[in-house]
Amino acid sequence: MAEFALPKNSKIKKNGKVHKAPAGAKDVKSFKIYRYDPDTGENPRYDTFEVDLAECGPMVLDALIKIKSEQDPSVTFRRSCREGICGSCSMNMNGKNGLACTTAIEDCKGEVRITPLPHMDVIKDLVPDFTHFYAQYASIQPWLKTVTPNPSGKERLQSPDDRNKLDGLYECILCACCSTSCPSYWWNSDKFLGPAILLQAYRWLADSRDEMTGERLDELEDPFRLYRCHTIMNCANVCPKGLSPAKAIAEVKKMVVERQL
Ligand code: SF4
Ligand code: F3S
Ligand code: FES
Repeated sequence: MAEFALPKNSKIKKNGKVHKAPAGAKDVKSFKIYRYDPDTGENPRYDTFEVDLAECGPMVLDALIKIKSEQDPSVTFRRSCREGICGSCSMNMNGKNGLACTTAIEDCKGEVRITPLPHMDVIKDLVPDFTHFYAQYASIQPWLKTVTPNPSGKERLQSPDDRNKLDGLYECILCACCSTSCPSYWWNSDKFLGPAILLQAYRWLADSRDEMTGERLDELEDPFRLYRCHTIMNCANVCPKGLSPAKAIAEVKKMVVERQL
């Protein structure tokens, strides 16, 4: 797969420090990590950390935690669940977006180069700024919207078949691996909602209990918000949860066409 573009503030001028593995280390692997600290006023750089894999857990996140604990406490990254559920540890490893906690070190060939998610503003090191992404998420009003009262004052029920229509959608953890791998999103993220948010939009369109389908489609039917997807398919290739935002986007486009017939 082609390597994705570096983060927005990525005028990397030089390689930084090399942190050697401890003497006697038997199984050494190098991790080249993107470093950026806006407080220094310096351009980003790569620092290299040698890690003894014999003393490290199997995942890239294990190596990052070991590096932070033992070699440089200033290395900055997000993580929480360490089991692919929270979406916090999304980053780019050897040119591909993924979750550090579910990416095995043994699957990363050679030196492991780690950068923040591509084409995002960077707050520090491997931490991208999600402000715009979350604002776009809020814009699709990601909650059940109804006009009729709840039947007999209870919860709204769904048939098993209708519930099944949410499979492949509800599992999204909003990690943004898909959106930040999409060239259309790189160039038009101010107006194009991108694959993650469009998949979430379809999650509510596909929900049999939601009663705002027309209004939701009105909001999406726009040359940029929806139609900047040109079926490039990177989104489906990188999703660490095995989802297909491309398919969800195709379904939204189909709904827009069908309501005109
Ligand atoms: Fe992450 Fe997949 Fe959701 Fe995109 S669709 S935000 S890659 S979980
Ligand atoms: Fe982008 Fe996926 Fe469409 S990569 S162009 S959102 S199919
Ligand atoms: Fe939660 Fe990786 S730490 S998804």
